[in-house]
Amino acid sequence: MSLFPLNQWYVAGFSSELTDKPIARTFLNQKMVLFRTGDGRVAALEDRCCHRSLPLSCGTVEAGGVRCGYHGMLYAPSGQCIEVPGQDRVPTKACVKAYHIVEKNHILWIWMPQELGVAPAREAPDYPWHDDARFKFGTGKYHYQAPWQLIHDNLLDLSHLGYVHLKTIGGNARLHMTADMKVTQDGDKVRVVRLMPGSTPPPTYKAAWPFGDTCDRWQEIEFELSHLKIWTGAVESGTDAIDDPNRGGFHMRGFHGITPETEETCHYFWSMASTRHPDMPENIDEVIRQTAFTFDEDRAVIEAQYRNMKDFGGKPEWVDIHVDVGGNRARRIVQRLVAAA
Ligand code: FES
Ligand SMILES: [Fe+2]
Repeated sequence: MSLFPLNQWYVAGFSSELTDKPIARTFLNQKMVLFRTGDGRVAALEDRCCHRSLPLSCGTVEAGGVRCGYHGMLYAPSGQCIEVPGQDRVPTKACVKAYHIVEKNHILWIWMPQELGVAPAREAPDYPWHDDARFKFGTGKYHYQAPWQLIHDNLLDLSHLGYVHLKTIGGNARLHMTADMKVTQDGDKVRVVRLMPGSTPPPTYKAAWPFGDTCDRWQEIEFELSHLKIWTGAVESGTDAIDDPNRGGFHMRGFHGITPETEETCHYFWSMASTRHPDMPENIDEVIRQTAFTFDEDRAVIEAQYRNMKDFGGKPEWVDIHVDVGGNRARRIVQRLVAAA
């Protein structure tokens, strides 16, 4: 039985990461090499040459595929060896496992199958905001020494902003803890909406938008197995309705791709897109810088949390409070999908 949901698309990284070098990455305990061929195709293969097991990620990328860095066997994106230097015949068994990987909206999506070689059952998810001219986005990534679900918990419960992120997107802790919160579920998706009218604009908001003393803030979080979309922002108090999707003001659209590496570690790929105020057009760069700082703070908390869980012998019976509804629903979804894997 798999420890992770299978027959799912997961985030393997961002398109911009695939240059002329192969990348070694482990997803769901499966070691693989990611590369873009010289003629532009993206590929994900098992990271082990079938000759003498050198990782293919130690090799080089060419027009036709990846060449092993030991004795030069060349592998196509299909996983088939297509050249053995100094030998005319390529053994028919000379191949490695290949995974389905696609590029969409600047994101690399990998299909983690129950059965290798079977085509994905559905299209990779859409994330149109990376291709929307109204927004500009920046990206970042972390390798976490903590299991992936601790990040789900963190992102589905933004009440922590007032305690963890006072230097950037925090604001009044009590207001965050008492914000009206609505949690809904549609199949395997969970949505958490929190509205906070009459907030004090936190530092990141002030750096990016000419807010006065108070603003009306919204937080809309959507969980899917492989990623969360978090749309937050604020309007000047008493102007637009904060639950109107066409509201103006300052917007932060966060993408959070969280992919298990092992039971105890994971990859976290994020992007942040923001609108620009006509008088402060370059401040998106400051938003991205402060976002990276904010996510460093989250990592410090989550990794400390996990170290402590281990020191105390694993996951105990946790005591739930009112902010945990979204995270607990996500946990039940993951549990059900793991059981089906
Ligand atoms: S180990 Fe790869 S070609 Fe020999
Ligand atoms: Fe956070």
